[in-house]
Amino acid sequence: MENVNPYSDDSELRPTTWNSYIGQEKIKDNLKIILSAAQKRNEIPDHLLFYGPPGLGKTTLASLIANETERKIKMIAGPIIEKSGDIVAVLTNLNPGDILFIDEIHRINHMIEEYLYSAMEDFKLNLILGKGPMAKTIDLKLPPFTLIGATTRLDLLTSPLRARFGAIFQLDFYTEKEIEEIVKRSASILKTKIGDKAVHEIAKRSRFTPRTANKLLKRVRDFAEVKGDGIITHQITQKSLTFLEIDELGLSKEDRKIISTIINNFKGGPVGLQALASATNEEERAILDIYEPYLMQLGLIERTPKGRKVTKKAYAHLNL
Ligand code: ADE
Repeated sequence: MENVNPYSDDSELRPTTWNSYIGQEKIKDNLKIILSAAQKRNEIPDHLLFYGPPGLGKTTLASLIANETERKIKMIAGPIIEKSGDIVAVLTNLNPGDILFIDEIHRINHMIEEYLYSAMEDFKLNLILGKGPMAKTIDLKLPPFTLIGATTRLDLLTSPLRARFGAIFQLDFYTEKEIEEIVKRSASILKTKIGDKAVHEIAKRSRFTPRTANKLLKRVRDFAEVKGDGIITHQITQKSLTFLEIDELGLSKEDRKIISTIINNFKGGPVGLQALASATNEEERAILDIYEPYLMQLGLIERTPKGRKVTKKAYAHLNL
């Protein structure tokens, strides 16, 4: 049950201080106030919830908060907590002031979730031992802790759980300028020379998402090292992104397949999520979490009450 973020192979690139974290300015300002007010009162900070598409920095923010407030952080993921014993073990092993980060918190089993209610509210666990007339409840006192939850799907969080967070923040896509800054910062950490036009090209095709930007940067760096002299030029960038089949809008083969399937199999839509998932061989969750937010952000697809529809812009992008 250790670190769980399946995408976290870029730990050296993750900012650990407020000053090195680029973007999400409003959220950072808000968090700094919450955290310094708690510190002034000598209290532990309220429970916090971050939501938004994957790769925008929810886990990074949680680690950064732990670092900046000099607290220990324990990281787990919702789907890993299978039995009530799992969550009891996690909670009872915390030390006062620790941060508990639960990624994909919407995927915690609802029976287990109920343990979190009293744990978050009163730092208590109400355990029921045994069944029927012999059943006994015991109250277990927990050390005060701060829970930081992350989810891609706020809509799947039950309202009692949502209500127990002191503040809820929506992480939004970054601007192209912010992604450019992130690419420059990452290149400098990786000790790779990169030109301004190359920075711009990578940023443009990064889905306004730092994780994607860092991944593309690393792939282009591989190219520059194998096919060139290690310097990331504009030409190398264009060649490698073409090779990786990432188009000018940052769409991957999978994104384009979703659009072309809606056009070719469903006359442009509307099409329901289930039908689209089976026609494209993608998981419904991947469509909801990964593909759709960016395709909607670009205005290539729309969600209507009857399902997903492609826009004129999508036809134009695929030259149809
Ligand atoms: N790497 C990933 N996300 C980042 C961010 N928001 N700022 C700086 N570097 C990052």
